[in-house]
Amino acid sequence: MKTAVVYYSYSGNCRFVADKIARNINADLIGLETVDSYPDKRAKNFYFGGKSALMGETPKLKPYEFKASDYDLIIIGLPVWAASITPPINTFLKENDLKGKKIAGYACCSIGGTERVLNKLESELGTKLVAR
Ligand SMILES: Cc1cc2nc3c(=O)[nH]c(=O)nc-3n(C[C@H](O)[C@H](O)[C@H](O)COP(=O)(O)O)c2cc1C
Repeated sequence: MKTAVVYYSYSGNCRFVADKIARNINADLIGLETVDSYPDKRAKNFYFGGKSALMGETPKLKPYEFKASDYDLIIIGLPVWAASITPPINTFLKENDLKGKKIAGYACCSIGGTERVLNKLESELGTKLVAR
């Protein structure tokens, strides 16, 4: 079974988890990066990133290699931003047709909201996650 772990990480937590999963199950690791980076200062990014997440923005991503048809399982990892889907993941969902694919997801947070974000992810995908 071929698996991809696709993640976005601003401060490293989701990358850490993605890396662990990929190593453990021998999956391909696909880290998404935006062309325009978010502010380095965390406090500033709380405002800009949070607003961007609430507005459901789809920032341009740097080129990445991913073809959904290559994979039996796709694991999506994302940080919770303003209790919403992180914008780079919105872009990934828009750029890739994941219909009919088996998808699992995880979210990193500092206070909470992972269930809510994974529910939102399910509703964007139009399908239940096979694991969360
Ligand atoms: C713009 C922004 C908004 C955030 N909003 C939330 C939130 O609504 N709830 C929460 O629990 N954590 C929130 N966080 C904290 C991150 O979800 C948390 O630090 C996460 O572990 C970061 O993952 P990363 O290191 O992979 O970027 C926010 C962080 C940022 C930068």
